[in-house]
Amino acid sequence: MIKCMSDNLKIHGLFLTKTGKSRGWGMDIKARIKLYKDSDFLLKRSVYWFALPFWRILQFFRDARFRAERVTRFRYNFFHHQGSTFTMLHRYPVLFRACAAYFSAHPNPKILSFGCSTGEEVVSLAEYLPTATIMGVDINEWCLSQCRKNNKNQKHNFYHRLSPEFVSAEGFDAIFCMAVFQRSENRINHNSDADPGFTFENFEQEIQFLDVKLKSGGLFIIDQADFSFADTALAARYVPLDIEKNRIVRNRPLFDKDNKKCADSQYLYRVFVKTSHSLQQ
Ligand SMILES: C[S@@+](CC[C@H](N)C(=O)[O-])C[C@H]1O[C@@H](n2cnc3c(N)ncnc32)[C@H](O)[C@@H]1O
Repeated sequence: MIKCMSDNLKIHGLFLTKTGKSRGWGMDIKARIKLYKDSDFLLKRSVYWFALPFWRILQFFRDARFRAERVTRFRYNFFHHQGSTFTMLHRYPVLFRACAAYFSAHPNPKILSFGCSTGEEVVSLAEYLPTATIMGVDINEWCLSQCRKNNKNQKHNFYHRLSPEFVSAEGFDAIFCMAVFQRSENRINHNSDADPGFTFENFEQEIQFLDVKLKSGGLFIIDQADFSFADTALAARYVPLDIEKNRIVRNRPLFDKDNKKCADSQYLYRVFVKTSHSLQQ
């Protein structure tokens, strides 16, 4: 019997990674029990729901990333948007290239990676914009410790979302907000209302806060959000950058200004040019 899961392959009762290696007994049991979630047998489904809290507790003590995500949610709650810290190198090549082309004549653009997680976005951006000064900002302290440990580039700095260094920072040429203005719950739960932990009001406040930090003529880049940048009051002072694939279809729900689901997929602009000064500037 061969059964494929997102990151496992089950062959004749053994769980293997895609490269064919054994996942170890702990992961093997986890993968086995995960399969029970959608089983036709009540007993198997009960095993899944019984095991879940124990697995979470084990994970909390064994997995620093998982623990940091939970602690950050507990500590910052409504100020904490996306809980997951998932990221990867070169995640948005089209957008990174567009930014590099836009600033090709700029000797030292100042870039902000807002919601930088463990810093892969900053490292990737530096490959496209080698002369740029890049600030990575996150609310998760463990993520920031990973960023500082793994990135010693003098032109890269990492700050907490609430730190005075970031709160007072301004004059950015580009601001990246990738996969931060969202809650995974909105994709998992299939509710018609946005998760109350992150509403349109929170979204618009954050956009306003960041807009003040962006220079006129600068780029605001936003992707994988639960709301549309175009719905914010500030959008009137921005225009989409004319590049290929500025809009792509994303199979994720979109919520409106009233926090109601308005579409099951998105087709939104992702790169905007700021055409006039912020009111506070
Ligand atoms: C899914 S990761 C995205 C990482 C990266 N931007 C990417 O797209 O690959 C979302 C990150 O946003 C951070 N985050 C959540 N709420 C935040 C807030 N209020 N201020 C700054 N970062 C926040 C999380 O801690 C997490 O590291």
